[in-house]
Amino acid sequence: MMTRGATRMTRVVMGHMGPRYFSTTVLRNDPGTGVVGGAAAGLLHGFPSNPSEKVAVTWVRHFSAMGSRSASTAALNEKQQEKESSDKKVENTATAAANGGAGKSVVSYWGVPPSKATKPDGTEWKWNCFRPWETYEADMSIDLTKHHAPVTFLDKFAYWTVKVLRFPTDVFFQRRYGCRAMMLETVAAVPGMVGGMLLHCKSLRRFEQSGGWIKALLEEAENERMHLMTFMEVAKPNVYERALVFAVQGVFFNAYFAAYLISPKLAHRIVGYLEEEAVHSYTEFLKELDNGNIENVPAPAIAIDYWRLPKDATLRDVVLVVRADEAHHRDVNHYASDIHYQGQQLKDSPAPLGYH
Ligand SMILES: [Fe+2]
Ligand SMILES: [Fe+2]
Repeated sequence: MMTRGATRMTRVVMGHMGPRYFSTTVLRNDPGTGVVGGAAAGLLHGFPSNPSEKVAVTWVRHFSAMGSRSASTAALNEKQQEKESSDKKVENTATAAANGGAGKSVVSYWGVPPSKATKPDGTEWKWNCFRPWETYEADMSIDLTKHHAPVTFLDKFAYWTVKVLRFPTDVFFQRRYGCRAMMLETVAAVPGMVGGMLLHCKSLRRFEQSGGWIKALLEEAENERMHLMTFMEVAKPNVYERALVFAVQGVFFNAYFAAYLISPKLAHRIVGYLEEEAVHSYTEFLKELDNGNIENVPAPAIAIDYWRLPKDATLRDVVLVVRADEAHHRDVNHYASDIHYQGQQLKDSPAPLGYH
């Protein structure tokens, strides 16, 4: 009885398995992927309706695993060869670079394409720190004489804080406006970054939009840093001035961070007054240029590209556009303080993005 039953069962199983699972046209295991296609895939990923198919499923899984292992091993060998070849390329590139050769581009497994851009005339864009679409023509029509009259205690505190800070700056730099501009830009680029960073963290904490103010303040920080990159080309800092920047940044960053946490209204007002002073300083710079006390040298190439200045632009043209930028920062920061004064959050009023 047992022998006859077993024979019958074998016939049933082979009857199903023969055409389905032992046919190469049906059982297709894609090499290198370990994926079984066709009817077998349906079996592997579903449940066979016929109990007799369970045996076959076990076999198919077993063969599939074996196939996958062999394919995986082949793929691993290929990957290892690719890696070795890539390592050799990196080694060759590094050697070429060390020898001062032309092959200085980095060969990387990560496939990040090198950033390339061209000018409208088709020539190569040489600046990696900003791209052609980030350049602009300064709005020179802005009112340079605007001033926020301090009325409240906080306003007066902000105003006199800036006036007091100006005193040592005047004593230290006197009429060396090129150097003064460069040093002050190292400070001016801090508030936008600190404010933007704190608003960024606030947006994360409170699960709310920023109204564009994070981006607007970071744009301001970037714009100020471009002022620094420009004046760096005109005045080279000596070792004492570099040490001073270190010390001032350490103090100012932390002081402004604390001020922004305690009262953004006060922090933005302080920056508004700082920018008023910056407009004044650049006006004095222009006077020195016009009087011939400072040589009106050709504009640095970075400034010509950043502000889309004519090719024959001079330092005077650069100071004019930088002063216009400072007037825009003045307006943005006084406006931000006014929003707080009116009992609102910055996110409630759309930020002036791209306001230069
Ligand atoms: Fe600036
Ligand atoms: Fe500024």
